[in-house]
Amino acid sequence: MRVIVVGATGTIGTAVVAALGTRHNVVKVRHQEGGFHVDLASSDSVSQLFRVLGPFDALVCTAGLAIFANLDELRDADYHTGLSNKLMGQVNLVRIGRQYISDGGSFTLTSGVLSQEPMQGSTSFSMVNAGVEGFVRAAALELPRGIRVNAVSPPWVTESLIALEMDPSLGMPVAAAAHAYLASVEGDGTGHIIDPRKFTAK
Ligand SMILES: NC(=O)c1ccc[n+]([C@@H]2O[C@H](COP(=O)([O-])OP(=O)(O)OC[C@H]3O[C@@H](n4cnc5c(N)ncnc54)[C@H](OP(=O)(O)O)[C@@H]3O)[C@@H](O)[C@H]2O)c1
Repeated sequence: MRVIVVGATGTIGTAVVAALGTRHNVVKVRHQEGGFHVDLASSDSVSQLFRVLGPFDALVCTAGLAIFANLDELRDADYHTGLSNKLMGQVNLVRIGRQYISDGGSFTLTSGVLSQEPMQGSTSFSMVNAGVEGFVRAAALELPRGIRVNAVSPPWVTESLIALEMDPSLGMPVAAAAHAYLASVEGDGTGHIIDPRKFTAK
């Protein structure tokens, strides 16, 4: 399959590319220019990406910004970052990308367990992740031509906790989390929110 990975240079994206790369023709997309690039916050940029990429069989998104801060600190603009980037950016990958995807193709988006397991400082993330999950469940009912859509909802990954100087025991290794993305791309489910902690690799 020709699989597009948006966010391919990130912590999760790098592991997803490694997991998919031995089995599929993976096309890497990042934010910074050079090679294929996109700004999720701009629907024009998303449209331009698909015009350049052409047809594909699956798309995985492991990109999407939101702001982590306490309720008292979050300004309108901070909420809009999450809404325009992680939420509408991923929604637009499906809305615009469905014109280019093969029959029976799949979209796999990324939410995060903060949708169901909030913590102090997560209001924007929790809201946006829940929005991604709601979109996936509903869009799966309407996508034509056997096109599937799922979201992977990762917990903290160990590598990110280490980078943030947080307790790494709270997370799971990113290579293990990547199995959930493989399951979405290679399986036949749609409208599913996949928690990598519950996923057993085949
Ligand atoms: N890491 C975790 O523990 C964890 C846990 C749960 C959920 N998540 C979610 O998983 C996703 C990926 O997290 P991560 O830690 O792997 O992120 P990351 O390491 O910061 O990587 C971000 C990736 O997204 C790209 N990117 C940045 N801004 C973009 C934009 N405006 N448009 C398009 N692409 C953009 C980056 O490209 P460049 O390299 O070109 O900048 C990079 O490839 C996020 O939505 C995050 O909320 C992460």
